[in-house]
Amino acid sequence: MPYRQTIAAAYDAGVEEEYNRLTETPLREAEYQLIVELLDEYIHRGSVVIDIGSGPGRYAEHLLQRNCRVGLIDLSAKSLKAFSDRMEDSCNSDNIIFNRVSCATQLDWVDDCLADAILLMGPLYHLVSDKHRNLTLANCKRILKPGGLLFTVFLSPFPVVNSGLDSIITHTNFQGYDVPQFRCMPGIAKKIMKNNGFDTLRIRNIEGIASFMSIETISEIITTDKKSDFLNTLRKTSETEKRLGMTHQYLIITKSI
Ligand SMILES: C[S@@+](CC[C@H](N)C(=O)[O-])C[C@H]1O[C@@H](n2cnc3c(N)ncnc32)[C@H](O)[C@@H]1O
Repeated sequence: MPYRQTIAAAYDAGVEEEYNRLTETPLREAEYQLIVELLDEYIHRGSVVIDIGSGPGRYAEHLLQRNCRVGLIDLSAKSLKAFSDRMEDSCNSDNIIFNRVSCATQLDWVDDCLADAILLMGPLYHLVSDKHRNLTLANCKRILKPGGLLFTVFLSPFPVVNSGLDSIITHTNFQGYDVPQFRCMPGIAKKIMKNNGFDTLRIRNIEGIASFMSIETISEIITTDKKSDFLNTLRKTSETEKRLGMTHQYLIITKSI
């Protein structure tokens, strides 16, 4: 099956799972929190933001609540439908610029210099060819205003191979589909970004050190009164230089040059 169909079929089958993912365990709640607080720090209220690979749109919804104008793009029609169903009665729905099925590599229909910021939190690690990743980044560069910000999630090879291997393709079974994943260390991610006209501002492991703990340990630590201490510890350890790329996922914030 061509990669676009595989991704669309897998995420169409997993809309509910994907929507619930960011609230179902303390680790995933931390992921959401550690990303959202960076979005809030860098994206001003009222900005135009394009979420490429939005899934069911939890981050887009958050940005709409901050008065941003948001466009959503995904290969999964059912994920986008779940978002529009949720937004049907929302007072923020006038600020949805578009909500459209499309591949991150094929965005000619999006205007030049439209966005203050782009979220690319999914597509880049599902695109396993250099050509497709570069096409996607060229689209982001064109759609962003000069100096615009790009928030990209990468997967790291470290937790799966336990060594400093620079990059690797892995496969995961999602909803019965064999979904490919490109993984690379932060140094490579920075080079990919630089080669496509983006300077790196910041990198954050989006699970902090909790990636190294079992669910049982985390559940023992997290009682309601300890939750914010736990999150503080993750936040403090999420940007330690020598640990960057040791967890499954990291967010890289870059600026268009
Ligand atoms: C793991 S989900 C992440 C959703 C959301 N961005 C988040 O961070 O929670 C990855 C999403 O990227 C989408 N995706 C993957 N490759 C894509 C591509 N080439 N073009 C558009 N969307 C893509 C998938 O359909 C899926 O909804």
